[in-house]
Amino acid sequence: MTQLAVFGGQPIRTEKYPRWPVFDYRDIEAVTNTIKSGRWGGFPYPGPNTAAFAERFAEMQGGGYAVPMLNGTITMEVALRAADIGWGDEVIVPAYTFQATAYAPMVVGACPVIVDISPDNYCIDPQRVKEAITSKTKAIIVVHIANQMTDMDAIMEIAKTHGLVVIEDSAHAHGARWRGMGSGTIGDFGSFSLQSAKILTTGEGGVLLCKDEKMAERAASIIDCGRPKDADGKNYTMGVNYRWSEIHAALGLVALERFPEQMQERESNADYLEESLSEIEGISLLKRDLRHTRRSFYRYIININPDYFNCEHQVFCYALSKEGIPVDTGYPAMNRYDLFQPQLSKLPVPSAFPEYFDFENMSLPITERASQVEAVWMGESIFRAGKQGVDDLVAGINKLAQNRGQLSKLAENRQRMLDQHGSVDLSRLAEF
Ligand SMILES: Cc1ncc(COP(=O)(O)O)c(C=O)c1O
Repeated sequence: MTQLAVFGGQPIRTEKYPRWPVFDYRDIEAVTNTIKSGRWGGFPYPGPNTAAFAERFAEMQGGGYAVPMLNGTITMEVALRAADIGWGDEVIVPAYTFQATAYAPMVVGACPVIVDISPDNYCIDPQRVKEAITSKTKAIIVVHIANQMTDMDAIMEIAKTHGLVVIEDSAHAHGARWRGMGSGTIGDFGSFSLQSAKILTTGEGGVLLCKDEKMAERAASIIDCGRPKDADGKNYTMGVNYRWSEIHAALGLVALERFPEQMQERESNADYLEESLSEIEGISLLKRDLRHTRRSFYRYIININPDYFNCEHQVFCYALSKEGIPVDTGYPAMNRYDLFQPQLSKLPVPSAFPEYFDFENMSLPITERASQVEAVWMGESIFRAGKQGVDDLVAGINKLAQNRGQLSKLAENRQRMLDQHGSVDLSRLAEF
C-alpha cells in the first residue's frame, strides 16, 4: 500500500500541467499595433479587426454569418431577440450546463424549460425535448458539452416538425464537426464564448453565428444600439451597446492562427487517453457517436463507478487533484445550482411564471447522477502535456484504485462532516 497524496504521500505528478491561455510575441504585437492605431473601440461597428475576425471565424466553423460581441451569454440573448422570442415564450434548455444557457431566455422574458440529458453523451436528450414541447415552445438551446456534441439530426428533425428555432450553445465546441458540419452552423444560431478558459480565447468575447443573413443584420443592429444594418438603412431594432473592442479582436486574429495546430495536438492526445482509459477498471467513457466527425476538447468527462472506488466523485476528484492531476466534478444540476437562483434578481420571469422554477419537484435523474455521483471532468491542459500528461493521469487513477481503503476513509469523513456541519470543507477531509 502507498499513501495517497491527500494523506501526505508523494504525489504522482509535481510538474504543473501547461498553463492557459498561451501567448507569444504575435499577441503582443497585435495588441500594440491596435493601440497605436488609435482605433480601440467597436464603434462604428464592426471595426477592421472585428470584421476580419468575423470572416475568418465563420470560415473556420464552415458557414454562417458571424457577429462578434462581448461574451458567450449575450450571444444567446441576442439570438433570441433577433428571432423575436420574448415574454411568456418557452425555451427548452438542458439541465447540465453553465447557468448562462438558462439565464439568456429569462433575460428576454422567456421561460427556461429545463429538461434532462442523455446518459450517452450528457447533452440534451431529444426524447425529453419532444416531451417538453407545448404550444408556447419557441426554441431549443442545445449545449455541446465538454468534448461531446448533441444529436443534431434528432434535434433538427424535432425543430422542423414543430417550427422551432435552434440555438447551439457551442461555448465548448469551437472547431467541432457533426457529419462534417461545423458546430454552431447546423441550427439557426451558434453561440460561442471566447472567455479566458475557452479553447479559443481573447480573455472575454463571444461570437454569434447566424445561418440567415437577415438574422445576422438584426443581431448586429441589436448589439450596436439598434442602428440599422440593412442595405437601405431602415431596419432599426431595440438595441444596446454590446460591441466587442478592437483590442480583443486583435487577440482573436492571433488565436485563430494558432487554433488548428492546438486542435490537432488535443485530438492526438485524446486518442492515446481513450486507449489508456479503456483498460482501467471502475472507469467508463461516454459513448463516441461516429456522426461527431471532428471532436474538440474543452474538457473531457469520464464516469467513475462509486461502488468500485468506495466514494463518489467529489472525494475522487479531490484525491486525484492532490496527486497533481487537474480534475473536478463539473456542473451541478441546473435545479441545484448555487449560481442559478432566479430569486436573487428582480427579473420579471421568475415572479410572473414561478411554475418554471419549482426546483424541488423537477425530475432530472441523469443530470443528478452525473453531477452528484459519477462525472469526473478533466481539464483541457491534459491534452497539451504529451503522452506523459496522459500517463500521469492514468497512474493517478490507478493509484486511487489500488488504495481504495484510503478513499473509503475520506468518504466516511465526508459523510461525518456533512452530518455535523451540513457542508463539506475539502481542505479538512483527510484529518476530520
Ligand atoms: C456552456 C456555456 N455556455 C455559455 C457560457 C457563457 O460564456 P461567457 O462566459 O463568455 O458569457 C459558458 C462559459 O462561460 C459555457 O460554458
